[in-house]
Amino acid sequence: MEARRQEARTDAHDSPPPAEPRDPPEPARPAGPVRTAEAAEAAEAGLVVRDLAAGYGPVTALRGVSLEVPRGSVVAVLGGNGAGKSTLLRAVSGTLRFHRGGIAAGEVSFGGRRLSGADPSAVVACGVVQVPEGRRIFARMTVAENLRAGALGARGARGRRAAAEARDRVLTLFPVLAERARQRAGLLSGGEQQMLAIGRALMARPVMLLLDEPTLGLAPMAAARIADTVREINAQGTTVLLVEQNAAMALSLARHAYVLEVGEVALSGPAAELAASDEVRRRYLGIGDDPAAPAGGAPATRPALARWPG
Ligand SMILES: Nc1ncnc2c1ncn2[C@@H]1O[C@H](COP(=O)(O)OP(=O)(O)OP(=O)(O)O)[C@@H](O)[C@H]1O
Ligand SMILES: [Mg+2]
Repeated sequence: MEARRQEARTDAHDSPPPAEPRDPPEPARPAGPVRTAEAAEAAEAGLVVRDLAAGYGPVTALRGVSLEVPRGSVVAVLGGNGAGKSTLLRAVSGTLRFHRGGIAAGEVSFGGRRLSGADPSAVVACGVVQVPEGRRIFARMTVAENLRAGALGARGARGRRAAAEARDRVLTLFPVLAERARQRAGLLSGGEQQMLAIGRALMARPVMLLLDEPTLGLAPMAAARIADTVREINAQGTTVLLVEQNAAMALSLARHAYVLEVGEVALSGPAAELAASDEVRRRYLGIGDDPAAPAGGAPATRPALARWPG
């Protein structure tokens, strides 16, 4: 089996990524004509997390975490309650400090630019946008106002044009948000609120989206709809780091996956191989050793564990 414990490599991403939806921000570099091959390669790299340790005061939530999300890919991070999934996304988005946490060691970079230590607005300016856990929409504001809030950085005629384009893209992806534009967001169903949370993030025209358990608490139909949307967003060129407890869904979407256990990467590998591995099938997909049980190919038809012991 190729999927392996973390001591082994965490690379080997197969096909070339599709084009990005817009030119990624240029990495900061000294003025001058020379751009080394190394710098060009770094700019093409997606998210790189190296030996990350992070926590909240005395609580260590992540240790020695390394992972890569190549441009254009969907990468999943699986794990039980308290495994450190949200902490990982907060460390990338610069929002750990809002939870009285911080990075203790290691580095996070995107396209060769260092994100660790950057504030959240600088991370967004690099094209990396998080959809936090729990659909944090503004419940008293209308759907349209929520979407506008996602494009607050847009200034001038160019900014307004870009925001209008982003809004068109969001409303094409989620027609229900156009129908409900004037309704208070708190009145939407859970699935619609998740669409709004993703839509608001897309208003910032991300190069990479960080999704924290987008299907949590949703009925199977609504969860399937969100999964389709994530697939569509990625097909349009946006890189996705997807944190999920719904392992079957995440493995059906991702190219590569990591399993976090108590703050450390316990397993990683191509998603199809993880989905076929006995350990993942037993622990995360709720499938026993029954040889008649379906193997690898069709995770969407398997029972998804809403929660599993961490
Ligand atoms: N704000 C905080 N202050 C102190 N400890 C925290 C805080 N947030 C998370 N933790 C702790 O950090 C560890 C990792 O939590 P984290 O929220 O990252 O896990 P998770 O994998 O996202 O879990 P879940 O699936 O329940 O959302 C846990 O031990 C948790 O109790
Ligand atoms: Mg979480």
